[in-house]
Amino acid sequence: MSEPRDRAAGKLAGAAPADDRVIGDQQRQWVETFAANPEMYGPEPSEPGRLAAALIVAEGLSAVLELGAGQGRDTLELLRRGLEVHALDFAPDALAYIAALAGPELAGRLRTTVHDVRLALPFAERSFDACYSHMLFTMALTTEELDALAGEVHRVLRPGGLCIYTVRHTGDAHYGAGRSLGDNRYENGGFVVHFFDRPLVERLAAGFELEDVTAFEEGGLPRRLWRVTMRRR
Ligand SMILES: C[S@@+](CC[C@H](N)C(=O)[O-])C[C@H]1O[C@@H](n2cnc3c(N)ncnc32)[C@H](O)[C@@H]1O
Repeated sequence: MSEPRDRAAGKLAGAAPADDRVIGDQQRQWVETFAANPEMYGPEPSEPGRLAAALIVAEGLSAVLELGAGQGRDTLELLRRGLEVHALDFAPDALAYIAALAGPELAGRLRTTVHDVRLALPFAERSFDACYSHMLFTMALTTEELDALAGEVHRVLRPGGLCIYTVRHTGDAHYGAGRSLGDNRYENGGFVVHFFDRPLVERLAAGFELEDVTAFEEGGLPRRLWRVTMRRR
């Protein structure tokens, strides 16, 4: 298999992404949902957010890229733990909300970037110690787009850097429900979710050591997720 960087470059330098309309609809959906629900996931950090912050601090790392930060429940936890956080999302108002919540005390260590993760990440190679993302990889992205994204995460992480991400998996109650978009993606209530199977986790780990895959649940449904921890070679 080719290096993740090459996979990403090949995809990202090419034609426009295939699923433009789906992602355009999803961006509107998220912007409108966040506008209508100022604390959609509540003010407390998620369980994987707490665990990721603790692990990153324990390893003595400092520069963290957070993908799909949303309204920042985990961004704030990472900042409170003393980390430098670059929060990225394609919902601009959500990022502005995080900056406002951070306030003067934490804002000095916060950067935000509005960006669609189907495109090359706008950062130099090896510029982060860790990449954290809760439920971003499990959005409407196709497997090809996920390949490119994993390659980009590999490119911007320093060797030895951590990538911690969570995804809903094929044991989730919503797997197979709603409108199928192919590639294990289903639309339910206006949101598209890519449900992961184990081979997809292993495929995205090319160029990384896959250190841990832990199942957990979140929310009332409940959502059934995996927390994946991998280390850049
Ligand atoms: C399920 S929410 C999780 C938000 C946050 N991580 C949390 O747990 O509170 C997914 C987030 O990914 C963002 N997102 C979805 N697709 C994206 C894309 N293609 N590029 C950038 N952000 C995206 C959404 O705007 C949303 O903030």
